Amino acid sequence: MSEVVVLSPSFGRWSPEPAQVLADAGLRVRRAALGAPMTPQQVIGQLPGAAALIVGLDAVDASVIEEAARRGELRVIAKHGVGVDNIDVAAAARAGIPVVHVPALNSGAVADLVLGLMLALLRRIPEAQQGLREGGWPVLAGPELSELAVGIAGFGRIGRGVARRLEGFDASVAAFDPFLPPDAFGSVRRTGTLEELLETSDLVTLHLPGGQDGPLLDEAAIARMRPGAWLVNAARGELVDEHAVARALRSGHLAGYAADAFTAEPPTGSPLLEAPNTLLTPHMGAYTRATNARMGVSAARSIIAALTGAPLDHEVRPAEEGRR
Ligand SMILES: NC(=O)c1ccc[n+]([C@@H]2O[C@H](COP(=O)([O-])OP(=O)(O)OC[C@H]3O[C@@H](n4cnc5c(N)ncnc54)[C@H](O)[C@@H]3O)[C@@H](O)[C@H]2O)c1
Repeated sequence: MSEVVVLSPSFGRWSPEPAQVLADAGLRVRRAALGAPMTPQQVIGQLPGAAALIVGLDAVDASVIEEAARRGELRVIAKHGVGVDNIDVAAAARAGIPVVHVPALNSGAVADLVLGLMLALLRRIPEAQQGLREGGWPVLAGPELSELAVGIAGFGRIGRGVARRLEGFDASVAAFDPFLPPDAFGSVRRTGTLEELLETSDLVTLHLPGGQDGPLLDEAAIARMRPGAWLVNAARGELVDEHAVARALRSGHLAGYAADAFTAEPPTGSPLLEAPNTLLTPHMGAYTRATNARMGVSAARSIIAALTGAPLDHEVRPAEEGRR
């Protein structure tokens, strides 16, 4: 019986379906996740008997691929997520081991969390609860979303999901995304520049990829935001200069910052931990039961396809075909 070795701690964590799909196909599942992503050496230790690997953030570098190729047992690597920067896809391609990932199935889950962060930040829900638990009765006031101009930077799957939800709250919504044609914005006001979005929004929410040239919201960009504006970042920590955000919170230029992503995770020693009016969650935007089930089932089906020689819908190919 072929063995699927699961390194990702979140595969099927909140739903039994993904493991069941594998079991129904006659595959044995061996869970091997540690408390932290595995090093290449640790992944190599899991290779004996593995026909498939389900990886999270574990380091599957060229040394792992070489060892897998030498052993000749591993027939597919499945990423339980979208980004494959922790997998040497080119090395895997050279070794003839397909890499599959889970397409973006989490946009609804992240958009839901973003609305939660916005409402909690604006109405100061965590602070109110804290004061109440400490024996007080801190009645706090904040704005309604319908009073605010909300600016969305990055109008992809999650950005659009946030816009759809905001419509239900009667917010006035604008978006900046230079890579989309004007007709992709529907009823949402499109701004031509990031600066315009920052200058005309009471609340800015980020939904673009990381890996930009330096932080998108550096000190100067933050200074362009309206005094007393709120900022939400459920995309990538590196999109903002976290020190500049902390300074803007302390000076009151920013009224609040909610983040589900940080430059370092967990953000040990981050200036955000000491800054006022922050609402910080541990990169949990994608963690709903429904999304967890969909992601796991998608990975399980891709593995079954790979092991049975069926076409792969979600194969990741090397970025540069010529890289050797
Ligand atoms: N918090 C979480 O758990 C979680 C989960 C999934 C994704 N994410 C992050 O959310 C972000 C958005 O994900 P998505 O699924 O919507 O991606 P997506 O690819 O569907 O959309 C991203 C959009 O950003 C736009 N964009 C790229 N560079 C830009 C720039 N410089 N300025 C403005 N727009 C720009 C692109 O044109 C695209 O439309 C990513 O950073 C992703 O890593 C976070």
